[in-house]
Amino acid sequence: MEKLLETFKALKQKNLSIDLTRGKPHSDQLDLSNNLMTQAVDPIGENGVDLRNYGEPIGIIEARKLGADILDSKIDLTIAGEQSSYLLMTQLLLGRFLFGLDDDPWKNDKEPAFLCAVPGFDRHFATLEGLGLKMHTVNLCSSGIDLDDLNKKLSKYPNIKGLICVPRHSNPSGEVFSDENITNLLKITKEYNSSFINLFDHAYLIHDFDETRVQTPIPHLADGLDALDNVAVFTSFSKVTFGGGGMAFLTTGEKNFKLIERVRNMMVICPDKINQRRHVNFFKNKSNVLEHMKKHC
Ligand SMILES: Cc1ncc(COP(=O)(O)O)c(C=O)c1O
Repeated sequence: MEKLLETFKALKQKNLSIDLTRGKPHSDQLDLSNNLMTQAVDPIGENGVDLRNYGEPIGIIEARKLGADILDSKIDLTIAGEQSSYLLMTQLLLGRFLFGLDDDPWKNDKEPAFLCAVPGFDRHFATLEGLGLKMHTVNLCSSGIDLDDLNKKLSKYPNIKGLICVPRHSNPSGEVFSDENITNLLKITKEYNSSFINLFDHAYLIHDFDETRVQTPIPHLADGLDALDNVAVFTSFSKVTFGGGGMAFLTTGEKNFKLIERVRNMMVICPDKINQRRHVNFFKNKSNVLEHMKKHC
């Protein structure tokens, strides 16, 4: 303990000022995407859509194709949004809260609750808290969600609507979930409640600099279990191009998709389609995104 205190004092005396925010790119990494700021864009997109005008609340088709390429999902079940994955996550949660999946809005329930993988990500907790959802913890283990703890929590607490986790390089401890773990998680939660929603925040889906556990894309695992509506998988370009200035993507099942489409029709007249097109021109496909990510390290 004394040694620790000495080290602490020595560090303190250096008067360092270091930004330890996790996931915040360095300006050298941001520079890699500077071409996005100067690139000219043809104002007419695929399918003849005028990118300068209103419309396309779920994203232009070429951006949705790029999102589906990255998430390994079906294009017609993939949304290309703006700004951040949080926005999409909050819109989906709002839809479930206000309208429900099958006319079963959470707002009508007594104390709807959510499971949060811990250690976890403070901003997830803030989103759930903001919606008034009660939160319970579920432990992580080296292969993902601690399934014994999951079973314990599901039998202890009533009315759990969903679970939120980061399945790859989970904050802050770095767990990468195994296929077996994700599969079991989906089976257990679907059996608990057929409309249970697992929110997979794939913020670090394409951020592998060293060899890391290979995962079968979550939409494939879910599809195989007939559980697409029990998952929502999110990712974004916030840590690829510009924080809050890129694109965000979501894939889920048909019912959740219709629900978030309904919410977006209420609040998003249109995403920034010019920015979406710029990103599509910049990357074109997933393999170029992966090449770009190599330059980050
Ligand atoms: C796990 C996780 N999810 C989401 C984000 C933010 O992503 P976005 O800007 O797309 O909301 C971060 C940012 O650090 C993060 O660590």
